[in-house]
Order: sequence, then C-alpha cells, then structure tokens
Amino acid sequence: MKALILSGGTGSRLRPLTYTGAKQLIPVANKPILFYAIEAIRDAGIHEIGIIVGDTREEVKRAVGDGSPWGVKVTYIEQDAPRGLAHAVKISQDFVGDDDFLMFLGDNLVRDGVSAFVEQFRTRKPNSLILLSRVPDPQRFGVAELENGRVVRLIEKPDVPPSDLALVGVYLFDQNIFTAVHAIKPSRRNELEITDAIQYLVDHEFVVDSHVIDGWWKDTGKPEDVLEANRMMLEYIDSDVRGTVDEESQIFGRAVIAPDAKIINSIIRGPVMIGQGASIVDSYIGPFTAISERVQVIGSEVENSIVLQDTIIDQIPTRIDSSLIGKNVRISRIADRPKALHFVLGDNSRADVQ
Ligand code: G1P
Repeated sequence: MKALILSGGTGSRLRPLTYTGAKQLIPVANKPILFYAIEAIRDAGIHEIGIIVGDTREEVKRAVGDGSPWGVKVTYIEQDAPRGLAHAVKISQDFVGDDDFLMFLGDNLVRDGVSAFVEQFRTRKPNSLILLSRVPDPQRFGVAELENGRVVRLIEKPDVPPSDLALVGVYLFDQNIFTAVHAIKPSRRNELEITDAIQYLVDHEFVVDSHVIDGWWKDTGKPEDVLEANRMMLEYIDSDVRGTVDEESQIFGRAVIAPDAKIINSIIRGPVMIGQGASIVDSYIGPFTAISERVQVIGSEVENSIVLQDTIIDQIPTRIDSSLIGKNVRISRIADRPKALHFVLGDNSRADVQ
C-alpha cells in the first residue's frame, strides 16, 4: 500500500501566515501539522509516500526532504494549481501504480492515527473506506448519509446536511478510484471533488465502507482551529526540562523546555512548550502555549497561544491570549506620548485591542 499527502492549496483563511509559508507547516505543539500525517502513515506500516505540492513546494521539500528521518520514502508530485482533491488523485496515478492507497489531507490532524482504519481496509477489502466523524457543524465539510452502515450518499458542504457525519480528510482506495476521477466533471467551484468521485463508486455498485472515529480530529483551516489543535496536542506532552531555569522561576504542571532555552524570573504554567534558544524573562507563560525557537518574551504574559520563530514580545502590559503570532514579529511597548497604538501589519492581519 502507498500513501498520498496533499500539501498544496493557498491557505486563504490562514492569511497572513500563509503568505510566507505553507499552511501544512504551521506548527502545533511545536511540530508542523504535516509531520503528524507522515508519522501516522508510517505508524500504519506504509513507507512509500507521495506528497502533492503546489506553490509552496520549495518550503515543503526543505522541511520533509526525502523522508529518511521518518524511515519513509517521499516522492513529490507537482500540481500546477489547486484543481481539487480528485485532480490530485488523477495526477498521482503513475506514482500509485497497481497499489491500493491511503490519501491524507496535510492540514488534517487525527489524534489516534490511522492504523485501525488501514487495518479495517486490509481485512475487509472494500473498494473504498472513508473516515467519518460526528461534528456540530457538518455544513463546513463533506457529509455522508449511511444506510445500515453502508454509504449511500455524499454531499460536499451541503446547506441542509443529511447527517452530522463529516468526511475526515483521510480516505482509502483501490484502483477503481482512477476510473471515478476520470469520469467526474468539475464542481460549481470548478474543482474535481473527491466527494463526487466516491459518489461515483457508490452509484456504480462498488463497496464503499465507512469507519466512524470517536477520537479527536481537526481540519486546521482557520486560526481558531490551529489553536484548538495546539491545545489538544499539548494535552499529551510529558515534562522534559532541558533548558536553563533559574532559581527565581517556577514551573507548574507539564512543560517541555528545549535545550538552550532560558527561563529567567518567570512563571510557566503547563502544559507549555518552549523551543530551542527561546528566552522567557520576567514573564508568565500560561497553559496551552507553544513558543517556537529563538522567541523572546520579556516582561509580558502569554497564554493559550502559538508564537513562531524569532518573534519578540517586550513589556506588553496586558496578557496576550488566544493568539497566533507569526515569525519574526515584534510586539513592544513604547513610552512616548501621545498614548497610541502603532501597527505595521501585513495584508489580512488581525489585531484585536481593548
Ligand atoms: C475537504 C473535503 C471535505 C472534507 C474536508 C476535511 O474540504 O472536500 O469533504 O470534509 O476536506 O478536512 P476542504 O478543507 O478542502 O474545504
């Protein structure tokens, strides 16, 4: 069996972060979202992975390389524009060859991995197996309608959902999906939808099974989703303090503090991750915060947030909460009058002040 990971797309709902980077490389709990997919696939016993890349190809290639750090072999497959998930399958036919394959959307996080799902496909041998999850807002997703456990209908982002079963971005297929992706026509948003390709299988009497997960999953499309994913992943960390913590500092709860990180006269209340070379001085870092490499937090309080590489947060009088802050950002306090806020924000930035 092989695997495809989709790592193209524009990440429009995560701008401005996605102007300078792939959405799949945004870290949660200090690890790029895409790496969780690679690990889940490897742990399910699949070692040949095709990664579909688009405009952010160079960055993805730099981060993942040939896959050897994970013990997998990675092949890159170029998609010229985001033409849909079924289009990605179409252009991957040479890579997949005669194998069955797993398709994993690179912005999806499935906490419990995909091993049980792959095992079900291997033992029951349907033509396709889809992964479903009950959600409160099914109109945001592809939605499945089941009859006696069998998939009878799939609709992409319906106004009136027939059920609360959303399609998780993980699918298993045999060779028949290639017939389906060649037969379907582009949708209203002018993409070849995988949902339509699976519906084609259903309509042509192929066996499409489903597996409903009860574990947590997230499509990390929006900043709020990324923060929720970060909270979920930080729930599972074990303490590992390798950096320097001075005598004036206190750590409560679970914290991972990387080598070369410095905690000086500060309070850390876990679960928290502090990356390599970061320094936290005269500050408070509260629960569910992930601080990336070389970040400096000085005289400030940060909670329930993600702060990316090389950012400086200096003497901010109000606690920073529920924030997703990019790389190399500087947030500092000025003493001059008039008392005012100064911004240099990129396009599509968001700043909420009180
Ligand atoms: C895609 C699929 C949708 C699925 C979702 C899961 O939507 O088209 O069926 O439920 O991924 O993440 P997109 O995120 O591309 O809007």
